[in-house]
Amino acid sequence: MTTGVLVHFKKKIIHLNSGNITIRQMQPGDIRRVLNIEQKNFLIPWSTRAFSFELKKNPHSLTLVAESDGKLIGYSVSYILVDEMHLVNLSVDKDFHRQKIGQLLLVTNIDYAKQRECQSITLEVRKSNWAAIGLYQKFGFSQTGLRRRYYEPNGEDALIMYKAIRSESSH
Ligand SMILES: CC(C)(COP(=O)(O)OP(=O)(O)OC[C@H]1O[C@@H](n2cnc3c(N)ncnc32)[C@H](O)[C@@H]1OP(=O)(O)O)[C@@H](O)C(=O)NCCC(=O)NCCS
Repeated sequence: MTTGVLVHFKKKIIHLNSGNITIRQMQPGDIRRVLNIEQKNFLIPWSTRAFSFELKKNPHSLTLVAESDGKLIGYSVSYILVDEMHLVNLSVDKDFHRQKIGQLLLVTNIDYAKQRECQSITLEVRKSNWAAIGLYQKFGFSQTGLRRRYYEPNGEDALIMYKAIRSESSH
């Protein structure tokens, strides 16, 4: 996957380095910085409470952050139900877009899903969100459905995207 890796997926201990980027599990002290990015990136941002729930109360959640030189620059939230991973949040600080941070977070989630023997990963994405759709397509997701008027506040449709998991690679 990458270099300098300390990953014990079964126990959900994740710490990996790729170049100057570190991916590690989110800590309660990260939430303020996560919210900073969240509020800039989304029309209806998640609340502190929502992140706290995923972090502290949801045993099925995988909550990750990406850091560069100690600065928190991205994060993801996913959870596994039975043998399916749902990726419910993925976001990168605008100042760090197009530097493969989103990709690194996504690949870490995919690898975790494989380790946990998931059959598939699903997610929803705004139909106008070409950056995210491009990222998901690059890693083998395809559209399997549409949720009409899914997103507030403008009633935008959501594409449902799906990736079947095979054990060989992240693609
Ligand atoms: C979507 C998002 C996470 C991508 O993160 P990123 O770190 O900028 O993306 P990466 O540099 O890892 O890009 C990986 C691939 O995604 C695709 N991609 C990313 N940004 C893109 C853009 N603006 N236009 C087209 N394709 C894009 C490309 O295929 C890219 O591969 P390439 O660089 O080899 O062309 C980021 O744009 C973001 O945080 N957006 C706001 C929050 C959001 O919409 N999250 C997704 C919710 S479903």
